[in-house]
Amino acid sequence: MVRVMFVCLGNICRSPTAHGVFLAKVSAAGLQHEIEVCSSGTAGYHVGSPPDERSVDAARVRGVDLSGLRARQFNVSDFDRCDYVLAMDQSNLSFLEQLVPETFTGHLGLLLAFSGDDAGEVPDPYYGGKEGFRKVVDLIDEASVGLLDQIKRHHLRGGG
Ligand code: 4NP
Repeated sequence: MVRVMFVCLGNICRSPTAHGVFLAKVSAAGLQHEIEVCSSGTAGYHVGSPPDERSVDAARVRGVDLSGLRARQFNVSDFDRCDYVLAMDQSNLSFLEQLVPETFTGHLGLLLAFSGDDAGEVPDPYYGGKEGFRKVVDLIDEASVGLLDQIKRHHLRGGG
């Protein structure tokens, strides 16, 4: 089992979008028993809350349902279980780099490093308009393709 954790600040906009979009690709590839997907926030403000409605709407347009997800906070013990810990922006990544135990053998980095053009960060859409939420889905969708490809090539025998 390969375990993937997406991390943003609140776990109500970007990382639940990555959770839902990537899980949809995993399921479409028939790999849901080989790849486990989860998400969390570096902050605890929204623990227990469903994703922001603007994220739910933007993902729904792409046929992805985020409504059943609930926010949780990243815990240092997540490093013990996860093979990929993928941050949405540099601030989230810096937070995780301060926590990561020396024993962690997985991959800690930015999600968008898996995009074809290494697009940097997924911008925080929380205080902006709908367009920002659509952009989040686009950026995440492209990186999810690259991430799934990487996991198939490096972890799953026979290329998945
Ligand atoms: P997220 O977006 O990190 O993508 O879930 C945010 C959600 C909430 C807040 C900031 C960003 N907030 O300040 O409450």
